[in-house]
Amino acid sequence: MQKRKILVTSALPYANGEIHIGHLIEYIQTDIWVRFQKMMGNECYYVCADDAHGTPIMLKAQELGITPEQLIENVSKSHQADFNDFAIDFSKYYSTHSCENKAISYDIYHKLNKAGFIKTKVISQAFDSEKNMFLPDRMIKGECPNCSALDQYGDNCEVCGATYEPTDLKNPRSMISNKTPITKDSEHYFFDLPQFESKIKDWISSGSLQEQINNKLNEWFEQGLKQWDISRDAPYFGFQIPGVKNKYLYVWLDAPIGYIASFKKLCDEKKIDFSEYFDKNSKTELYHFIGKDIIYFHSLFWPAILMGANYRTPTAIFAHGFLTVDGKKMSKSRGTFIKARTYLDNLNPEYLRYYYAYKLSNKIEDINLNLKDFKERINSDLIGKLINIASRSSGFINKRFDKLLATHQKNDLYQSFIQQKQLITKLYENRNYAQAMREIMALADKANQYIDNEKPWELAKENKNLELHKVCSLAINLFRVLITYLAPVLPITANKAKDFLNLNELSLLAIENPLSEHKINKFKPLMTRIQDEQIEKMITNVKNQKQQENKMIDINEFAKVDLRIAKIIDAKEVENSDKLLQLKVDIGEQDPRNIFAGIKANYKPEDLVGRLTVVVANLKPRKMRFGVSEGMVLAACDQESLYILSTDSNAKPGMKIS
Ligand code: MSP
Ligand code: ZN
Repeated sequence: MQKRKILVTSALPYANGEIHIGHLIEYIQTDIWVRFQKMMGNECYYVCADDAHGTPIMLKAQELGITPEQLIENVSKSHQADFNDFAIDFSKYYSTHSCENKAISYDIYHKLNKAGFIKTKVISQAFDSEKNMFLPDRMIKGECPNCSALDQYGDNCEVCGATYEPTDLKNPRSMISNKTPITKDSEHYFFDLPQFESKIKDWISSGSLQEQINNKLNEWFEQGLKQWDISRDAPYFGFQIPGVKNKYLYVWLDAPIGYIASFKKLCDEKKIDFSEYFDKNSKTELYHFIGKDIIYFHSLFWPAILMGANYRTPTAIFAHGFLTVDGKKMSKSRGTFIKARTYLDNLNPEYLRYYYAYKLSNKIEDINLNLKDFKERINSDLIGKLINIASRSSGFINKRFDKLLATHQKNDLYQSFIQQKQLITKLYENRNYAQAMREIMALADKANQYIDNEKPWELAKENKNLELHKVCSLAINLFRVLITYLAPVLPITANKAKDFLNLNELSLLAIENPLSEHKINKFKPLMTRIQDEQIEKMITNVKNQKQQENKMIDINEFAKVDLRIAKIIDAKEVENSDKLLQLKVDIGEQDPRNIFAGIKANYKPEDLVGRLTVVVANLKPRKMRFGVSEGMVLAACDQESLYILSTDSNAKPGMKIS
């Protein structure tokens, strides 16, 4: 059969947050498919990137006090480390903030513009006049116009489910400055999606989209396609619109183009023929794996943009459902918002790969992770069934037969394992991993039954060496078939098994010929059982992270504290108090402030006069027995000692500290 040429992508994770086990459904699903395609001998590339542009990333960088470039660099490192440790094997992992992506985005933009698919229109939008920026819907909160629930986002109400425009919100506030937004006009650039309706319909009918995507598309066609706003006003982190000042391409325009840019980068590095994959009449296959939340972007905008710019369109889009943990959305307080890294700190990545494979079909259904079920499934299938076959039989081969497998004779059981190959590969191809795992585990059951019936431990006791050798060698051969079938799901274990079996590769072709008079290596445990404590520890880790986060304040909260340089102009003891000194401090205001400070044990009043220090100037005045305290002097202290802060002598009373 001819080798297929396939390019595969997963959605590009946003560069403002860490990878969690919800994301991993997608990357694991895709990686399994790609590894399977390679195992079938096809040429298959898998590209991805960080989605690095947009307002949230710009604001997050500001919050951290770093540049967006620094932020996306840091996040990219952590994303790639997570993916690597989950054995997600990208051919290329790149960033949308790259010169390749800029060049291709501009190429596409120019082509769309030239062909008359870009229109401009003045629209009015919420504007934060303190921050001097237009506010995305998600950056505005207020009361729901429908049910009056407090603290709802600008696009929909989480209480009653109503959807609306941000201008409909009652008492709207900018989440950035906390001020009431104003409405302001600005010219925006639109992609003329409605022009593509019939072309998109052609694309759908020629392809093989999942039924649920087709249904969604029909709904959207019935509602009527709308022009798509592809510009954002400065300040924005992204690509400037060519030839237009202070306007940027909306992140969702350059993000999918990032698929092409990552592949372009790969082609440049590996001397692959780019045009073979992206020319208009390309015969190669292109698939996008995505989550159900981004179907609109991938099944409407994306093919239309590609058509409009005269690029090839995707062969298909593969959407999956969302992760729930114990039937609910992931939650930090329940300890179920599990980051990839937190999982890795406690559990073997291949357990999750197997569990997701065991649950994934080609339907857009949510996937539930129940941690008790997870533990039982892994311990039973992987340890109890799969690994057990090798560990029960390898000891005898090692001790009694010098690691040499017996001469293989034609055998029905072995043949029945090979006969399942066609079905199992078909299930992988159709992304019906759940069924594939069940078929493979049914074979594992058969192998264990065979061992149970033949009782090698009794054969050993009775010194029936010929029989013993045959039984254990067959068991090892069956194990080889199973681990070959599972290699796309368990690449790390498969690799170790390959070494144990003393083979150069595990291949679907090679299993046609069972190992015969073949020397294997000593068996080392390939996996261990999950203990309850590992899972408990992981949940505790998540809960601790939440507590840590709660203790964190953001820059806005910190900015609320008005810290000033103060000059102590007078200090005296307070009668009837053994702790307090009464200070008069100059903080650049007309009158000095009166502050009672608990520093009598550490400082003599006369030593303090004339000193520069730091005070909190906006602490609510506090009435004390001796008078009103109008601020607080900052000091470093522990059980024994106390030191008030000092500053350089050039600092002036009243200077703000930030
Ligand atoms: N940046 C966009 C995608 C741009 S593609 C040109 C984005 N990023 S994301 O980080 O929010 O999500 C990345 C992928 O992970 C998406 O396909 C999304 O559906 C998927 N998932 C994110 N959370 C998920 C779950 N809780 N469960 C399953 N998949 C999830 O969207
Ligand atoms: Zn509501």
